[in-house]
Amino acid sequence: MNDLAHSGYAIPRRDRLIVTLGVIAGGAILLAFAHGLASGAVARSSMRNLWLVLHLVAVLPALPLGAYVLARRKGDALHRALGKLWAVLMLAAALTSFGLRGMTGSFSAIHLLSIVVLVMIPRGILLARRHRIEAHRRVMSLTYLGLAVAGLFTLLPGRLLGTWLFR
Ligand code: HEM
Repeated sequence: MNDLAHSGYAIPRRDRLIVTLGVIAGGAILLAFAHGLASGAVARSSMRNLWLVLHLVAVLPALPLGAYVLARRKGDALHRALGKLWAVLMLAAALTSFGLRGMTGSFSAIHLLSIVVLVMIPRGILLARRHRIEAHRRVMSLTYLGLAVAGLFTLLPGRLLGTWLFR
C-alpha cells in the first residue's frame, strides 16, 4: 500500500488556493464563451483553426478535472485513473500549443510554459511511481497552477477569449 492511500480528505491550504484559482479561471472562461456565442464573435473567430480547437479540447476539461483530482482523496484507483487522464490532457495542451502562434507568427514566451509542462508531467508521474509523494504532489500542484494562470491570461484584452469577454 503506498503512502497516498492514507493521506485522507484534507486539502492542503496551498492546494485550496490553487483549486480556487482554477475554479475562477474556469468560470471566467465559461463566461467568455457564453458572451462570445451570444454576440456571434465565436462564429466569426478563428475557431476554424484546428490547432486552436484541439488546444481548447485539451485545456477546458483539464481545468475542472485537475481541480477535482487536487481536491479529492489521493492515492486510490480513481486518483490514478483521473490523474493519468489529466496528464494526457496537459501533454495534449502543450503539444497543440506549438501549432498556435501569436500575432507575430512566431513562438512566444508562453511556449516556454509548454516546454515546462512537457517536462513536469512525465517528472510528476515518475515521482509517483517512485513513491516520492511530497515531490509528486508539489510538481502536479504547480503544473495545475500553471494551467489556471495560463487560463486567466487568455482573458486579457487583445487575446481571443479576452475579446469575447470584454466585447
Ligand atoms: C484553461 C487554460 C487555457 C486556455 C483557455 C487556453 C486558450 C488558448 C487560446 C484561446 C489561445 C489562442 C491565442 C489567444 O489567446 O489569443 C491559446 C494559445 C496558446 N496557448 Fe493556451 N490555453 C490554456 C492553457 C494553456 C497551457 C496550460 C499552455 C501550456 C502548456 C498553453 C499554451 C499556449 C500557447 C503557447 C499559445 C500560443 C500563444 C502565442 O503564441 O501567442 N495554454 N491558448
